[in-house]
Amino acid sequence: MTHIFLYGPPGTGKSTIGKLLARNLKLPFIDLDRLIETNTGMSITELMDGSGENVFRDLETAALNNLANEKESVIALGGGALLREENRTFAESHGKVVLLMADVELLIRRLTNSPAKRPLLTGDLREKLTSLLETRGEHYSSFSLNIHGDGNPIEQNVYKVQVAIGRYHLSAMGEYDAIVDRVGQIANLSHERGLQNPIIVTDENVEKLHSERVIDALRTSGYEPKVVTIPAGEGCKNLETVSGLWKSFLEHGLDRKSTVIALGGGVVGDLSGFAASTYMRGIDWVGVPTTLLSMVDASLGGKTGFDLPEGKNLIGSFHPPKLVLADPGLLLTLTERDLRSGMAEVVKHGVISDPELFALCGRGLDWVKDNLEEIVKRAMAVKIKIIEEDPYEKGIRSTLNLGHTVGHAVELVSRFDLRHGEAVAIGMVAEARYAVRVGLATHRLVEALEESLRALGLPVHIPKEMPREDIIRAMRMDKKKSAKAIRFALPVEIGRVELVEVLDLESVLEE
Ligand SMILES: NC(=O)c1ccc[n+]([C@@H]2O[C@H](COP(=O)([O-])OP(=O)(O)OC[C@H]3O[C@@H](n4cnc5c(N)ncnc54)[C@H](O)[C@@H]3O)[C@@H](O)[C@H]2O)c1
Repeated sequence: MTHIFLYGPPGTGKSTIGKLLARNLKLPFIDLDRLIETNTGMSITELMDGSGENVFRDLETAALNNLANEKESVIALGGGALLREENRTFAESHGKVVLLMADVELLIRRLTNSPAKRPLLTGDLREKLTSLLETRGEHYSSFSLNIHGDGNPIEQNVYKVQVAIGRYHLSAMGEYDAIVDRVGQIANLSHERGLQNPIIVTDENVEKLHSERVIDALRTSGYEPKVVTIPAGEGCKNLETVSGLWKSFLEHGLDRKSTVIALGGGVVGDLSGFAASTYMRGIDWVGVPTTLLSMVDASLGGKTGFDLPEGKNLIGSFHPPKLVLADPGLLLTLTERDLRSGMAEVVKHGVISDPELFALCGRGLDWVKDNLEEIVKRAMAVKIKIIEEDPYEKGIRSTLNLGHTVGHAVELVSRFDLRHGEAVAIGMVAEARYAVRVGLATHRLVEALEESLRALGLPVHIPKEMPREDIIRAMRMDKKKSAKAIRFALPVEIGRVELVEVLDLESVLEE
């Protein structure tokens, strides 16, 4: 069972944050101290005063061990619950431990205002707390997942915890979790969601690199997965491949209760999701994205589909998955070019609403390679926040098109010589320059954007030889552009984008 344990000194908000976190993740919440009180019929103070700390700690160990078979939960622990090595081992082998910390002054303020009785802090609160923090300092700082809470609204601290553990629950279009974890967890997570009879859809590259681990994990836990392999790349994102998938599903005897597991990049995800959405009027599917782009973008939001010769993604459906499991470890086999390409979408997410993420991108590709997990968790969070607010793209979801209006056109005119992300990088800069020309942004924004993209080795200019009229024609053809005016998502500052209707497309491409 993969619980989420919240731990840390008194006053860090373990229970308050825990309750909201559990609500956001649609998980049960357990407060271990309250559980011990219920089990014994005595308050913590009575237990400590009457029987001493050792007896209380024994009760704590017993209560913790009883959680082994409990359904996945968010669990707030007492401030010293993991001092015992056996307790710590239990918690770390049954889930993730997040250590909450805060400045002493904030803790004192909170504890002074709190009605809860804390036997280890009776007397001079400042003195007792300072001494407790000193004694446990080394212990607390030995937890690698730690969050420094602050006086900001609780929602922000909960958000920090979610990003740190890489776990989100989406409910605006379908109900599903997006989880950053090892791919070996696929079987447990599928069982917990009641998923049945899986068929893995993957492409020829990913099959060689990563399918075995997924198959093994599923087999070990009793599934008998089937596998279908399709050719790699955008060139096969068409009706013929979809039709091939439908036939394979039939041949493998998939019924309405079966599950498609999409193991691959955005192409595999879009095709498998679409095939799942239409096979027998819709069956379950799970996304196991294997490219950076698909982890932070394509696998989230329930859009599935395929291309027509006339344009990208012209046929599709909304069909949310039952689970998205993103393992950043899978990205280590990507070519550098594909990794860079994915980073363009990460930069985009930073520009749209996360200046800190944008700053991290500016550290360059080597830093990114060493910190892929952090990048994936933060960038996923940006997309999820937006699609939860606007799942069917009536408004704010269009901000995700930043860089894509020019980008898609440039990608198309290059006949896909440019990777999607490279084209998006070029598109973002062109659109940012336009934003400066119409007075929405300053030159500093363009400079910052170019700096960041260059640090990642991404292009920032439309290739000189590319005919501008072809790009304009391609922009008009893009499926999202009806009528005469085209709606652009223009960057206004790092962290903010505005939607603007543009009539004169030539003016967008001026240098
Ligand atoms: N549904 C959506 O909301 C959405 C959003 C954005 C993009 N998309 C779509 O996503 C597609 C682009 O996705 P992509 O960039 O992931 O392309 P992709 O799926 O074509 O993958 C790129 C290449 O990387 C290989 N690959 C995948 N994982 C690998 C790994 N771990 N190691 C080594 N090689 C690996 C693939 O075989 C392929 O050759 C486009 O079709 C785009 O339209 C969809």
